[in-house]
Amino acid sequence: MNTQFLERQSSLERQAVALIDLHPVPADLERLAVEGLSRVPKQLPAWFLYDAEGSRLFDAICRQPEYRLTATETALLEQEAVAMAAAIGPGLPIEFGAGSARKVSPLLEALAPAAYVALDISSSHLTAACGTLQARHPATAVLGICCDYSQLQDLPAHPLLEGQRRIGFYPGSSLGNFEPPQARALLAQFARLLGPDGCLLIGIDQPRAVASLEAAYNDRAGYSAAFASNLLVRLNRDLGGSFDPEAFSYRARWQPDQCRIEMALVSQGQQVVRLASQDWTFAPAEALITEYSYKYTPEAFAALAGSAGWRPRQRWSDPAGTFSLHLLEPQP
Ligand code: AVI
Repeated sequence: MNTQFLERQSSLERQAVALIDLHPVPADLERLAVEGLSRVPKQLPAWFLYDAEGSRLFDAICRQPEYRLTATETALLEQEAVAMAAAIGPGLPIEFGAGSARKVSPLLEALAPAAYVALDISSSHLTAACGTLQARHPATAVLGICCDYSQLQDLPAHPLLEGQRRIGFYPGSSLGNFEPPQARALLAQFARLLGPDGCLLIGIDQPRAVASLEAAYNDRAGYSAAFASNLLVRLNRDLGGSFDPEAFSYRARWQPDQCRIEMALVSQGQQVVRLASQDWTFAPAEALITEYSYKYTPEAFAALAGSAGWRPRQRWSDPAGTFSLHLLEPQP
């Protein structure tokens, strides 16, 4: 992790947006890629998917009719923001994995905080999102921190962050992209980072009919496949890899025993790929896991959160019972 804080001078600063860059450096990317390609099955951290193009493709996935998660969560936030804000109380909203930060506006309107912090791995996306939010909420100072939030032990020192109760906001069911032990560790890390008087509002996607789940990760327009394939383009560009994206096909399938969608790029034949001064052999039909997306019933999620130091305070669900926003508070 690059520990240097680079306060970026940008045109956005005229609107009081501050940006801090803690993006992992190329050596970290290479180390993690080597670790991931050495695993059985081969698997890379999900955040590798989010370079500028990956973030753009993910936004397109969120607009596909099969991927109802985003529309469902957005509607829930729009309908319930006032009730959520009343339950949450005053403080500093901190959004983990903000992406385009399109969901937070109703909460910012209802909470009217002095400041808001967005954390995301994609610097170009974060910069644009912070500028848009700042224009929409001129009374709230916006701070963007480009980082792998799963590794962030505390927030960097910044005047906007001092002396305020912290409100974590983790929408999109991104917790599902971590395997359960890592998801528990992440929730525990959020508990430490948000403090004993903090709280966490987190979106969680739920298991439902297999056809609907698999369709969400296999959209007809092909954005899910392009999103996964872009990972190889990124490895080639950023780490000098020799992947041929055409030599892999995308697969997403529901794995009921683990209650997750597995997304993978499947090797179309025997092939050797060069990356980080090493040869990596792929057998025919061998999978490179690009991400998992775990789904939790409200009860299973409450148990997971409870094991990480949180207790459920309130929950808002869509009428069809496919998605919930959980408000958690620290266990005493
Ligand atoms: C960000 N995350 C919650 C998405 C999901 O649904 O697991 C990532 C995604 N990948 C492909 N489609 C969506």
